[in-house]
Amino acid sequence: MTIQVLDHPLVHHKLSLIRDRKTPGSLFRSLIEEVGLILATESTRQLPVETVVVETPLERTGTLRLKSLDPVLVPVLRAGLGLLPSFLKLLPTAKVGHLGLYRDHDSLVPVPYYRNFPPMLEARPVFVLDPMLATGGSASEAVRQLKSAGAVNLSLVALLAAPEGLERLHGDHPDLTIVVGAVDRQLNEKGYILPGLGDAGDRLFGTA
Ligand code: URA
Repeated sequence: MTIQVLDHPLVHHKLSLIRDRKTPGSLFRSLIEEVGLILATESTRQLPVETVVVETPLERTGTLRLKSLDPVLVPVLRAGLGLLPSFLKLLPTAKVGHLGLYRDHDSLVPVPYYRNFPPMLEARPVFVLDPMLATGGSASEAVRQLKSAGAVNLSLVALLAAPEGLERLHGDHPDLTIVVGAVDRQLNEKGYILPGLGDAGDRLFGTA
């Protein structure tokens, strides 16, 4: 498993605002999109490229283009939707799958309620978008669902991770690439990341 933690002044700065409970919902959403652009840039670093020839206004030249079929983006509903606009901005031809998983508040077990994936998953790089890698239960189940549908080249992209979630994913999916904005201290007894940012879905969609 490859784990990449973004260690970038812009990410630290924006995360400090995202974490702040006083940050209003509209700004919270914009900041998530801004960090999402950096996450999208870093998580696509390994996409294969090929040389093509183009004519600039001055001469013919060899230049690099993305080689693979359009990647697939799979936001885990609902907080994953917060990262989708940034990824679509940089990958406008990507296909988008959806996976609805909610976490049972008592058992913390992920329960699937909606799954709709594009075809040819086995031939495409797949990016699972789930801003909060907490217990790792939902992320692990999302990856399991995608593997069962044929995906082999999988990356999990999160804004914040807890060490417990990274360990769980490493055990369940040693072949997975993980890209996270930051790794926080620990989980609390309810499965929330500390210090964290609270409930990402509630803050994104104003449902607190
Ligand atoms: N999901 C969230 O939105 N926040 C957490 O801290 C953990 C899971």
